[in-house]
Amino acid sequence: MSNSKTFSNNLFALNKPLIVAVTGASGVVYSIRLLDFLLACGQKIELVFSNAALRVFQEEHDIILPINDSKEKILQALNLPESRTDLVNIHKSNDYGASIASGSYPSMGMIVIPCTLGSLGSLACGLSQNLIHRAGLVTLKERRKLVIVLREMPYGHIQLKHMLALSEAGAVITSASPGFYHKPQTIQDQIDFVVGKVIDLFDLDNNLFKRWKVDSLNSSQA
Ligand SMILES: Cc1cc2nc3c(=O)[nH]c(=O)nc-3n(C[C@H](O)[C@H](O)[C@H](O)COP(=O)(O)O)c2cc1C
Repeated sequence: MSNSKTFSNNLFALNKPLIVAVTGASGVVYSIRLLDFLLACGQKIELVFSNAALRVFQEEHDIILPINDSKEKILQALNLPESRTDLVNIHKSNDYGASIASGSYPSMGMIVIPCTLGSLGSLACGLSQNLIHRAGLVTLKERRKLVIVLREMPYGHIQLKHMLALSEAGAVITSASPGFYHKPQTIQDQIDFVVGKVIDLFDLDNNLFKRWKVDSLNSSQA
């Protein structure tokens, strides 16, 4: 058997893409910060926005995402570096033929940020109503990491059951609930806290937020 078939993809495996899905919950700014960080790190990204997310970008940031335009234009609208478009593939939320709809396409996992209760429910019930749900369910069946960043309060009984079902299936359930022990001074500090904690789940080094007693840990080791 030829070695080329066995080993030619090693480079791809070293930097597998991360799937980032943005749904129509309040706090789409978390997704912008996450994308900004990942692009700065040179992380490959497979990106998809739900239809409702487009509406929230408009409501919360007056951003009309040119979703049918080039990825350069989309990154530009989000104030993200267009120079790193080589790292990003942007998929239409109704494109079931996209790479990330198949488990044979490698990824290091998926983050849904922010995640609506609607998308939570679809994932928990195994419904592929759009590409985000399909990619999330594929991520779970392939035993890859799926991180859900919910934004809602309060939670009802149904959503709590959905969270438990997804957690039992292997997903990591988080909420956009920043702490205050790092004495935040700005809204950006709070955004960075949430995004930094999410990035931690993928073991990617980051200093987006001040860690509890890490200074004293370093000084006691010195
Ligand atoms: C401005 C705005 C803010 C919203 N915020 C939330 C929210 O924080 N959490 C949530 O679950 N749904 C929220 N919604 C409702 C969802 O967008 C709606 O349920 C939608 O069907 C979700 O679809 P998706 O999961 O495909 O994005 C919001 C809608 C709008 C227009």
